[in-house]
Amino acid sequence: MPGKRNMKLTEEQQEMLAGKYGKGASMAMRIQCAVGEGFEAERMVPVSRVHISLSAQNADIWFTEKMTEAGAAARVIPTVNPGYCVKYFREKGWLREEDAVNMRRTEAAYRKLGANMTLSCTPYISDNRPAFGEICAFSETSVTVFANSVLGARTNRESAMSAACAAITGFVPEYGMLLPENRLGTVLVKVSAAVDSVIKFAMLGLCGKKIGRGIPVFAGLPEQIGTESLIALGASLNISGSYDMFHIPGVTPEAPDAETAFGGKAPVRTVELTDRDLDEAFALYSHEPGEAIDYVILGCPHYTWEQVSAAAAFLRGKKACVPIMILTSRTVIAAAAKSGIKEILEEAGADLIPDTCVDEKCCFRCLEGKNGVTDSPKAIYYMENFGIRMAVRDWKTCLAWAVSGKSDSCTPVSGAAKEDHYA
Ligand code: F3S
Repeated sequence: MPGKRNMKLTEEQQEMLAGKYGKGASMAMRIQCAVGEGFEAERMVPVSRVHISLSAQNADIWFTEKMTEAGAAARVIPTVNPGYCVKYFREKGWLREEDAVNMRRTEAAYRKLGANMTLSCTPYISDNRPAFGEICAFSETSVTVFANSVLGARTNRESAMSAACAAITGFVPEYGMLLPENRLGTVLVKVSAAVDSVIKFAMLGLCGKKIGRGIPVFAGLPEQIGTESLIALGASLNISGSYDMFHIPGVTPEAPDAETAFGGKAPVRTVELTDRDLDEAFALYSHEPGEAIDYVILGCPHYTWEQVSAAAAFLRGKKACVPIMILTSRTVIAAAAKSGIKEILEEAGADLIPDTCVDEKCCFRCLEGKNGVTDSPKAIYYMENFGIRMAVRDWKTCLAWAVSGKSDSCTPVSGAAKEDHYA
């Protein structure tokens, strides 16, 4: 029987494992027992929220179809990550028929599982926002770090498959970030750089190599930090390293002060991050895109309502020379349509695209060889893998370039003007 020798399963969990709730649920429980054994969990605990990093890749489709063919259905309705919007990319003529079929098949498999097809990587904004202390099974690195750090929810960095199993069984093995002792800060990061804009928070997150392993506690940051900056920090931390959680004393809920963040213990390491570190991180991603730019991509992670509104305010009455693609959630697009913001953006030449992740080569392969600009180092990180070349700049610069069609030379990020914090 799978499961750690002394992992205690309740009667219900044992019955699920034995097949009383169907073959699919039994398979999911077996997988979770193996995961629990690997991490030396003592028991399974109920989970109240699940988010699955759907990907539309073969292994993902295979697993989800296999589970539903075995009768598995979600006990806890999961939200799902973006794949790609077939309608949008078909209309553009960028999508091959086989890719459209693939995405439709993925959607069908997750619908059959009982998922809420949100297709967004910012579920924590509204569609699936956990409360403090709530036990979740979230996959997608930018989601897990936000849920743990900013909301104080408890989730491990699940894979798409282990999160799907949690949705099916309604339980997760209790280990890692579900246990309070593993949530304490370990690395003191003294920030002497002036981090006062979303792009600078993204650059701060790119300093993972210097921060090293552990749970960073950032000291020296502003007392008020906007949601978008916290999203950018978490997303970047997980491309320069691998982070379940961070603390910011006085800002994040489990760190009212630095002493509490460390649980009264001394940090294992102290690191200092200066303007120079941010400039070095920026230099890695900010190459000169060429005199003319061909497109702008914003929204990795998916743009919030505040970011979409700010883009519309900036573009009102202007006309872009090149396509502006803003990836966001269906919820934000519905609100933008109702408020007239979508129309303003469309008149300026900016599309709000639902359901889509930048890491989908089948949608963006036609951008190969062209010069792009984005405000997201994470977008560059993924899209470079399939030959797309972009430069990173703050969102206003991206939009200004889209309007002028031209780029300017790069200046160090530390000297950049303080930009809006949206909220
Ligand atoms: Fe979201 Fe895909 Fe970026 S899931 S965070 S758009 S890589």
